[in-house]
Amino acid sequence: MMRHAWMILPALMSLAACVEKDKVPSGAEDFATFCSACHGAGGKGDGDAAATLDRKPADLTGLSARNGGAFPGTRVMAKIWGYTGGHDGKSPMPQFGPLLQGELVPYDGGDGIATPTPVRLVGIAQYLKTLQD
Ligand code: HEC
Repeated sequence: MMRHAWMILPALMSLAACVEKDKVPSGAEDFATFCSACHGAGGKGDGDAAATLDRKPADLTGLSARNGGAFPGTRVMAKIWGYTGGHDGKSPMPQFGPLLQGELVPYDGGDGIATPTPVRLVGIAQYLKTLQD
């Protein structure tokens, strides 16, 4: 029996490594990777690429303030996912292919309707909520 335990250990370790590799990045990590170049590390709209754009990246720390104090989750999700209106050709915002992969989880942006939404987009929306002034 002991012998079996030793044989199984490397298998468990590589499984753990595998899970680690496939770990879903946090909303904060994805924001830093995909959004901060334009929106700035703190979401204020002052990223390095902002100066090169015709349209100023939105200050994402004022989303709630500009919406009467309530985080506009559904609108934010529509913007980053593009399921309403999508790419209008006017926004410089890119599409975020890698963020669309992975599990779908229910996301209620505040309108009481839980929509199956890619888990990494939900992570970003939740992170943005924490940035509100
Ligand atoms: C190439 C630059 C660029 C990148 C990268 C980018 N954005 Fe934007 N974003 C903009 C610009 C410019 C605007 C303002 C114009 C518009 O609304 O399309 C904007 C607007 C927004 C808005 C709308 C704000 C409002 O007041 O309604 C949200 C939400 C947003 N971005 C979230 C994100 C998130 C989340 C990411 C990363 C997944 C991201 N953006 C990546 C340039 C960018």
